[in-house]
Amino acid sequence: MNVCVIGLGYVGLPTAALAASAGHTVLAYDTDAVLREALRAGRAIVSDDVAGLLASAFRDERFVVCDCVESADAYIVCVPTPTAGGRPDMRHVETALAGVAAVVSSGQLIVLESTVPPGTTERVVRQALRAAGKGFLNVHVSHAPERILPGDVVRELRENDRIVGGRTREDAEKTRELYAAFVSGDIHLTDLRTAEFVKVIENTYRDVNIAFANELALFCEEIDIDVWQAIALANNHPRVNILKPGPGVGGHCIPVDPLFLADQNPFATELIQASRRINERMPNLIVRRVVSLVGEGDGKRKVAILGASYKANVDDVRESPARRIRDLLDERGFRTSVYDPLARLPHAARSVGQAVEDSDAILLAVDHDAFRDIDPAAVAPIVRSRVLIDCHNFFPERTWLAAGFRVYGLGRGSHFALPQASVRQQSNSA
Ligand SMILES: NC(=O)c1ccc[n+]([C@@H]2O[C@H](COP(=O)([O-])OP(=O)(O)OC[C@H]3O[C@@H](n4cnc5c(N)ncnc54)[C@H](O)[C@@H]3O)[C@@H](O)[C@H]2O)c1
Repeated sequence: MNVCVIGLGYVGLPTAALAASAGHTVLAYDTDAVLREALRAGRAIVSDDVAGLLASAFRDERFVVCDCVESADAYIVCVPTPTAGGRPDMRHVETALAGVAAVVSSGQLIVLESTVPPGTTERVVRQALRAAGKGFLNVHVSHAPERILPGDVVRELRENDRIVGGRTREDAEKTRELYAAFVSGDIHLTDLRTAEFVKVIENTYRDVNIAFANELALFCEEIDIDVWQAIALANNHPRVNILKPGPGVGGHCIPVDPLFLADQNPFATELIQASRRINERMPNLIVRRVVSLVGEGDGKRKVAILGASYKANVDDVRESPARRIRDLLDERGFRTSVYDPLARLPHAARSVGQAVEDSDAILLAVDHDAFRDIDPAAVAPIVRSRVLIDCHNFFPERTWLAAGFRVYGLGRGSHFALPQASVRQQSNSA
């Protein structure tokens, strides 16, 4: 098939590269002219697996970067679907579909991959076709939401099961044909609305589950129980799977998708909205813990934040709780430094050492594997005061205590763990 992929970001570009590797001819379009040029010149910053697929697709002339939406047998739309003011913002989808409507003809297939509120695909495609004077066209329409795990995109694109919702059974079947060329997972067919709903509830389920874990963490701090141990023990039960607490929920999907449901029906989504509020408040809670440990920001106190991305081992900083924590600390008069080994940030520290130098607290905001190597004995001499705030139960508390740090671990009891000497002193005097 000739396949026009519209939107070449985290989802669209690997999808386009895989489609080309499976033998489709891909006409790839993105509104970002710099990205288009970088792709043509082989300079786009992509993971090694995507780069490999792209290189062979270019070589075999199965991947063409286009300056507009080009006519094709199938169109795959992978543009952003953010929220604005807490409400779904479908502007990118509408613009992309206007481009499709301008060139589409009868019998062609339009697939929306972007995550959207239930009912959206049918509505936006119909509107775009009408606006282009093509309301009469007999096109195939489907929704094939993406479920990849950032960090391992190509394998997940290939191996994950997919949900495909068609406007008709035939539309869903046609979409299955398109994806079956590069997806080895099962492709489950359903109707448009159900497919839209399923994608949104998958992420909403995770948001609610994380909110539950965060609520447990705060509860445990009050009654001096280690939430991490409690959750691990509870998860031994074959029908319990509680996710991990943390400093908030970030990224382009999990904090956004529940709002699609809440916006559509505020009265039937109380649990979903409460969960959103709990997760949204976590950065504030972490900042309060910082203040209770080191005092108010006074323009001099410095917090070194380790990690900037929205989750471990990825470079994506969208909606990152680490960034929110930094903003809140800045607002409260703290000086902040950030180090992230993966995310590309302007004005960031270039090493852990540079970030923590003269700091009054080290705050682990993202549990990147690369931070495992940090030796508390090596950083102890260069910080101003030895305080560790661990939002992920990541560091071995004992080694940090032994290096003289006071340690706050999210969900690990109402007391803050004290260094060895102070602990001994306390028990001596008891
Ligand atoms: N990133 C993920 O891990 C992930 C996972 C599952 C689902 N999704 C969903 O997939 C969709 C795309 O997400 P993403 O992370 O790839 O976004 P992204 O921001 O990485 O990429 C989107 C690309 O679309 C381009 N674009 C915007 N408007 C356009 C238009 N009108 N025409 C052509 N190009 C346009 C942008 O320039 C950008 O390069 C979203 O709905 C998202 O919720 C993302």
